[in-house]
Amino acid sequence: MLSKPLNSLIIEAYKHKRKRSLRGVDAILSRRQLLDAVAAEIIVCRKCELWITRKNPVPGEGSANSRIMFIGEAPGYWEDVKGKPFVGAAGKFFDTLLAEIGFSRENVFTGNILKCRPPRNREPLPDEIQKCTPYLDSQIRVIQPKYIVTLGNYSTGYIFSKVTLPFYGITRAHGKLYETSILGTQITVFPTFHPAAALYSGKYKELLQQDFQLLKNRLTDQKFKV
Ligand code: URA
Repeated sequence: MLSKPLNSLIIEAYKHKRKRSLRGVDAILSRRQLLDAVAAEIIVCRKCELWITRKNPVPGEGSANSRIMFIGEAPGYWEDVKGKPFVGAAGKFFDTLLAEIGFSRENVFTGNILKCRPPRNREPLPDEIQKCTPYLDSQIRVIQPKYIVTLGNYSTGYIFSKVTLPFYGITRAHGKLYETSILGTQITVFPTFHPAAALYSGKYKELLQQDFQLLKNRLTDQKFKV
């Protein structure tokens, strides 16, 4: 494990534009190495009690150099089994949405607010969010994305709270672009519904598809490349 708190290493690395070595070691850590270091911390994390009931932690996955990050809520049954984000039924729909805007899992980064599955897929508790989100913050610092797409109430609420945007629920917040600065990086936040909502309601499926089209239009206008 890294000897200094991870966040300070990451801040140090990026403050000095990755030109300076860390810990006096003559190696410059790549984004991938830094993300792996975050994942290593998550794997041994015991800050809340979810490690007791989970099968596998789900640190998140995808491109370390992606300019777009998707943030969900917490691992469910299949994510817990496989240790990967969005691999259950909601994940299949998420793949469809990504494909519709020309992306795949490999060229984006996908993570969650909580890295371990809450028992019976219950909602995250405030204490769990507080203890787990420093890992997400580290991932944001490392990746420095241009866009963060928040999927559902929990990730949108968390990201809005970081930039002191008032949050009145995903129904009011979704489908709009919020230009903001998070952890020292200029980021456009685009909230939409959680893909699982589409499994229960055709209305949410349609809204999600519409939101992804809006996002696609914006990215096309900006000649955005991941
Ligand atoms: N729901 C989430 O929010 N995240 C996952 O990884 C899977 C389902």
